[in-house]
Amino acid sequence: MALRRFDLEAGGDSFAFKSETEEKIVFWRGKYPADKQRSAVIPLLWLAQKDNNGWLSEPAMREVANRLEMPYIRVYEVATFYTMFRLQPVGKFHVQLCGTTPCQLRGAESLKDVCTKEIGKAMYVTDDKRLSWEEVECLGACVNAPMVQINDDFFEDLTPESLSAILGRLRHGADVTPGPQIDRVNSAPEGGTTVLTDASLFDGSRTKVSALPNLPKPPEPTPEATGRPDAQGPTNVHREEPAKVNDKVEPVKAGDARASTFDDLKRINGVGPKYEQMLNDMGVTQYAHIAAWSQEKVDEVEKLLGFNDRIDREKWVAQARLLADGKFDEHDRDYGRGKN
Ligand code: FES
Repeated sequence: MALRRFDLEAGGDSFAFKSETEEKIVFWRGKYPADKQRSAVIPLLWLAQKDNNGWLSEPAMREVANRLEMPYIRVYEVATFYTMFRLQPVGKFHVQLCGTTPCQLRGAESLKDVCTKEIGKAMYVTDDKRLSWEEVECLGACVNAPMVQINDDFFEDLTPESLSAILGRLRHGADVTPGPQIDRVNSAPEGGTTVLTDASLFDGSRTKVSALPNLPKPPEPTPEATGRPDAQGPTNVHREEPAKVNDKVEPVKAGDARASTFDDLKRINGVGPKYEQMLNDMGVTQYAHIAAWSQEKVDEVEKLLGFNDRIDREKWVAQARLLADGKFDEHDRDYGRGKN
């Protein structure tokens, strides 16, 4: 860390916060409990720096220490540690030039040359007291490198020419526009967006799901089944009516009087709420239904549920037989969650 000493001469003998700053001091101190008021040292130093033309004189640090009832040395330690606090006079517009790798790779060295040429060496204040500069570490705007911070604003995507123009305007009291100095909005690509340009991506029209590719395909209806010689096969995976697996059981919906005949199929390891609902829609509502499945029926259900050998692998039929016989303990011992 660089050794930082404060300028004991330039700061005079006294410092006073501006009257309008008192309200801000109350605000910041109010964030901390009465016995933790010293925690407000950084915001108060920041306010003191703003009231002292952008730098912290020794009397300003003493005033902060007195306000917070802190030993002077504790405040000096904080002020000399953080480079956001400047310990010697700066110009009305103080340039912090990022010299860290991303900015360096994008031309920070040539910006440094501009500052040296137009202002002077680092921390020198121009005779008109308007400009000064220093090199700092990454300011967190690397995507728009190279960049500088001037007082509270970032100026990004700089070239020697654009920085020189900004310094010239500041020197002559003209307005400057912070942010990227090229044709881009914030961190968006230069010249405008190049991807995701389809407006329909953002107008909500694509959020409606018409078909899910991993749902099981319904069996092709035959003309005989529909009774219509011109019956058309399904065009996508959506089914108006679920395929019926249990010949003897009609699909049962919520609120149906037969709801009491529903077994908790989720007890079968491998069946979750979604598959239980799909099974119910197929008319499979009891352990006994599954217990009675033949291999042919298993294969049929596999297809309807979009599985690949899962029912056999998870032994749904064997599980259902135990559950249908009321052998819950035996089932849980052999097939409880985590056993498959
Ligand atoms: S490296 Fe310059 S802003 Fe991060």
